[in-house]
Amino acid sequence: MEGGWPSGGSFLLCLTVNLLLPGRSNTFTINCSGFDRHGVDPTVFQTIFNQKDFRPVINYSIPTQVNISFTLSAILDVDAQLQLLTSFLWLKMIWTNPFISWDPEKCGAFSKLTVTTENLWLPDIFIVESMDVDQTPEGLSAYVTNDGHIVYNKPMRVTSICSLDIFYFPFDQQNCTLTFSSFLYTVENMLLGMEKEVWEIADTSRDIVRTQGEWELLGINKATPKMSVGSSLFDQIMFYVAIRRRPSLYIINLLVPSSFLISIDALSFYLPAESENRAPFKITLLLGYNVFLLMMNKLLPASGTPLISVYFALCLSLMVVSLLETIFITYLLHMATTQPPPMPPWLYSLLFLCTSPGKCCPVALWNENTGPGLMSTHLPGLKEPGQLVGKELGSREAELNGGSGLTSTQLADLWVQFSHMMDTFLFRLYLIFLASSIITVIILWNT
Ligand SMILES: *[C@@H]1O[C@H](CO)[C@@H](O)[C@H](O)[C@H]1NC(C)=O
Ligand SMILES: *[C@@H]1O[C@H](CO)[C@@H](O)[C@H](O)[C@H]1NC(C)=O
Ligand SMILES: *[C@@H]1O[C@H](CO)[C@@H](O)[C@H](O)[C@H]1NC(C)=O
Ligand SMILES: *[C@@H]1O[C@H](CO)[C@@H](O)[C@H](O)[C@H]1NC(C)=O
Repeated sequence: MEGGWPSGGSFLLCLTVNLLLPGRSNTFTINCSGFDRHGVDPTVFQTIFNQKDFRPVINYSIPTQVNISFTLSAILDVDAQLQLLTSFLWLKMIWTNPFISWDPEKCGAFSKLTVTTENLWLPDIFIVESMDVDQTPEGLSAYVTNDGHIVYNKPMRVTSICSLDIFYFPFDQQNCTLTFSSFLYTVENMLLGMEKEVWEIADTSRDIVRTQGEWELLGINKATPKMSVGSSLFDQIMFYVAIRRRPSLYIINLLVPSSFLISIDALSFYLPAESENRAPFKITLLLGYNVFLLMMNKLLPASGTPLISVYFALCLSLMVVSLLETIFITYLLHMATTQPPPMPPWLYSLLFLCTSPGKCCPVALWNENTGPGLMSTHLPGLKEPGQLVGKELGSREAELNGGSGLTSTQLADLWVQFSHMMDTFLFRLYLIFLASSIITVIILWNT
């Protein structure tokens, strides 16, 4: 062995190597004898390392095929205001360096070794949507196999721009694009391929993104349109990452309390209109709702108008409307009991029409809610308030059509009845509006 070398005592290394310089020859086999006994000889690879500034091809008309895949390991942040998705992924790239090859049988059967990436040519794959400089850590290594494949894995924290639609918040899904492309190599120089199938990428990523974060990975799709910039054509692979928000936090913190408050508001119509509690009760509810909105404001997206904000605004308006209604009814009742104005004949007929049996007019509430004594004490001769109205009014209809046949107590009672009827009627309107708006919102959320 030693005899084969020129005289020189400094060559104490037992390892001796014949470098096959990648000149005009077509065989670039690395002489790896001795690797199994003395470790890798760096001088063997020095030629390859020296070439790292150039794309490793024998014939420059042949494009380098770089196969990529990635594993999405975390969805760190989705910023609706800046329209940014921050994710963490491991990018895997495989390409071939035709100058590297060795015969594993002559080298103790090792077929791959690691080389630091500073010594290798690296494809300049980047993500088009990325809004951040590449923060790849230094000192990474890549695997080099005996048939010249180079396998390079690198972690990437990607802040990519993504068009986020928060209308359906908190039941929203987002579809963000990650486009991998080369900075400067056109299709004549570099082609991109898939290292594994896209469903494998999606499956591995879904398994890894099992964190209980806010976002859950739904799936990944891909498309491979070429990108033309000026006269050059670039190869690229687009991945569509579909993610869905886990809504439970928002259901518990936003929707449930809001529904409670609005249903209490609806139920408060059953407080008797004569009682002085109804208006203060509603004011308290309104105040409570405002406090709730203030506290929960930070959970809402900072920009845009999600449907849930419209829903909150609707609930707030309904509460205000119901308070106004209470004020109106209180005013009517007050007017009826203090100085009832003469009742217009059409109103009287309407009241008569609505109180006669078999008509589908709102009578239910005021029948039950009639204040104690208001009816039966003031109108003589009849016990049942329900009957009273029909009969009394019926018998006096002719008389009244003239306009002024009522005593003031009877007039007051009529006004009281009218107020109750209005109360019931408005309550039903309120219910219909509430139900239809909630149904609309639910239908919108489900589409
Ligand atoms: C590889 O190197 C060894 C030791 O220096 C030498 O004996 C052998 O001939 C070389 N093989 C080739 C193919 O040059
Ligand atoms: C390089 O590749 C091109 C296209 O494949 C071919 O036409 C050309 O002959 C090759 N050159 C050499 C020196 O092999
Ligand atoms: C890249 O993928 C293509 C097609 O799947 C395959 O033919 C090629 O060998 C792969 N290249 C590398 C370096 O793995
Ligand atoms: C995401 O958007 C792209 C194009 O806009 C579309 O092709 C793809 O199907 C969408 N993916 C999902 C899961 O909606």
